[in-house]
Amino acid sequence: MSVSEETRARVAALRAELERHNHAYYVLDDPIVPDAEFDRLFRELQDLEEAHPEILTLDSPTQRVGGAPADELASVAHVLPMLSIRTETDTTAEGARAFDARVRRALGLDEMAPPIVYAAELKFDGLAISLRYEDGVLVQAATRGDGSTGEDVTRNVRTVRNVPLRLQGRAPAVLEVRGEIYMRTDDFSRLNASQEAAGQKVFVNPRNAAAGSLRQLDPAITARRPLSFFAYGLGEVQGWNLPETHSAILDALAAFGLPVCEHRCQASGPEALALFHARIESLRASLPFDIDGVVYKVDRLELQRELGFVSREPRWAVAHKYPAQEVATRLLGIDVQVGRTGAVTPVARLEPVFVGGVTVTNATLHNQGEIDRKDVRIGDWVIVRRAGDVIPEVVGAIPERREQALPRYDLLEAIGHCCPECGSHVVRGEDEAVARCTGGLFCPAQCKQALLHFAGRRAVDIDGLGEQIVNQLVSAGIVRTPADLYDPARVNQGVLAGLERMGDKSAANLVAAIDNSRDTSLARFIFGLGIRNVGETTAKDLARHFGRLEAFLAADEAALLAVPEVGPVVARCVLDFLAEQHNRDVITALQKGMRWPEADVLAAPAAGLLLGKKLVLTGTLPTLSREQATTLIEGAGGKVAGSVSKKTDFVVAGADAGSKLEKAQALGVAILDEDGLRQLVRPPPPASRPTEDQGHLFSE
Ligand code: IVH
Repeated sequence: MSVSEETRARVAALRAELERHNHAYYVLDDPIVPDAEFDRLFRELQDLEEAHPEILTLDSPTQRVGGAPADELASVAHVLPMLSIRTETDTTAEGARAFDARVRRALGLDEMAPPIVYAAELKFDGLAISLRYEDGVLVQAATRGDGSTGEDVTRNVRTVRNVPLRLQGRAPAVLEVRGEIYMRTDDFSRLNASQEAAGQKVFVNPRNAAAGSLRQLDPAITARRPLSFFAYGLGEVQGWNLPETHSAILDALAAFGLPVCEHRCQASGPEALALFHARIESLRASLPFDIDGVVYKVDRLELQRELGFVSREPRWAVAHKYPAQEVATRLLGIDVQVGRTGAVTPVARLEPVFVGGVTVTNATLHNQGEIDRKDVRIGDWVIVRRAGDVIPEVVGAIPERREQALPRYDLLEAIGHCCPECGSHVVRGEDEAVARCTGGLFCPAQCKQALLHFAGRRAVDIDGLGEQIVNQLVSAGIVRTPADLYDPARVNQGVLAGLERMGDKSAANLVAAIDNSRDTSLARFIFGLGIRNVGETTAKDLARHFGRLEAFLAADEAALLAVPEVGPVVARCVLDFLAEQHNRDVITALQKGMRWPEADVLAAPAAGLLLGKKLVLTGTLPTLSREQATTLIEGAGGKVAGSVSKKTDFVVAGADAGSKLEKAQALGVAILDEDGLRQLVRPPPPASRPTEDQGHLFSE
């Protein structure tokens, strides 16, 4: 059935009007119609789209939430890297002067030269994001990631109400808008109240809430989280004559309908910057969102270009922070916590106190050495500091307020040299700051943490295996090691359904999630083992280098040191870990249950073959998932980009490839299928292994 011109016109008018109302409500904070009227228009559009699905487009206001949960967030290569800015540590007016002096020096200006004009703005305490608009339509949103590669969070960002799905006015062919996703403090309190009422996890601060919400695999969950956005800069731009100043860019972004914070100004010279810093400080507590400082940017783009960068930080911008917030309260007691590596950490139990926007009841005391140095005793008045998203800490005691003699605190004595969790010995090496429980996986605290780490999103990612369930499984003696999770005699639907707060449905979901986690990558698996000093990046390096678990397990010190980026400390930690028989036993037991994609194995011999090459993936490949293809390409030294340009070396196209394939054809970029990609990363003989040998490692 074809759609009449009349219907098309009505749909277009409704979309434009709804977008206008959205902008007025969420960006300008100045609604033009009552909610009921908005709802009526929205429903009319929904009905029309339902009746004529062929006219549905992704930028329709009805499409803010759509689609099923994803298995993972795809990675996105940033065409222009997402940089960070240097922090001025001096939080006084001197900080502004130091920055101005550096800029002037770098530009070779003497005292006689006129003052430099800066754009001064707020430093929002959220997460950096890059929004890509093509011909005015939001086509991609990516997190910062490591600056070069982020995660595709497009569907989640669509749900953020003040992010326009379509720009107003005459939009450039390509406009990447950089900015911050954050949560307002009032939205944060409401969210936490409702999370608590529903027995769900409460967030420590708005920043964590924003981060957790943005990286959801299910956009329907993000849609229920009240996120907001501020634009503060640009990424890739095509088809737009850039204004001459940063301030004018922000004005233009606002005119495109993007939310730009009103608290910004042009400031001429360092004293004007210092004034801005002071003015915002006095405003800070009344702002409806968290900031952790202000940002100064040289306003003229020409000067920015001249100043350039030092190690991924622009010389033309700086973050000028505020002093951390500190308050006094009473130290009621000291609890101890046992971490994943057995570290026994003293934690201050405090009389609740409001600092930096949150009520603090606990703060870290780090270790015995710090307690001694600060001479903190139970019953003392202490100073508590909260800086940004850092865990609150006890800065020191206020001895003048000590009303009576109090005994010194000794951690080992307080716990009788025994782990409060498992009773094993707690020891502190001679030159060690930290006391450790020797119980290893026998210690429930360590084993719980080890399980949570193994099941974590960045490790094998067992969705739904949270603290509550792990606590119950370990306390009941059902599970001790990650391998136990995959033993159906221990963990099955019946057992899980019997746990607190678990129904049949959640139990079934968890069984499925555990099974799904078998399909992982070697890098995630190695990371999941929780070896000290082996973080996500090192785990990737190790996986890429060794390619197969057997090779990793067999590595000696020399073999480990041969891995680029691995030094003696990491090598020692790996060897110590593998020297423990119980760790080997766990790995052996796990080995049966886990499956890695052949991509890991292929990537290792292919190292370097795609060095400096840019590839774009599009469509569905016959056997490799997007993540696997990315592993393969990155393992070979190549980069995966999000969009096709003249600089693209290859486009790897699978089934249902869309506009990227067309663009590649138009630009004459080489196009490959999955086989072609495999050919490309096949190492030259004689280093190559026969393909049959690689094939059998891959299981569906
Ligand atoms: S500009 C090239 N402006 O701070 C400069 N960043 O280390 C790129 N941030 O992760 C950043 N408010 O997310 C800029 N007004 C602002 C900002 C801001 C917050 C964050 C940003 C980035 C970090 C910079």
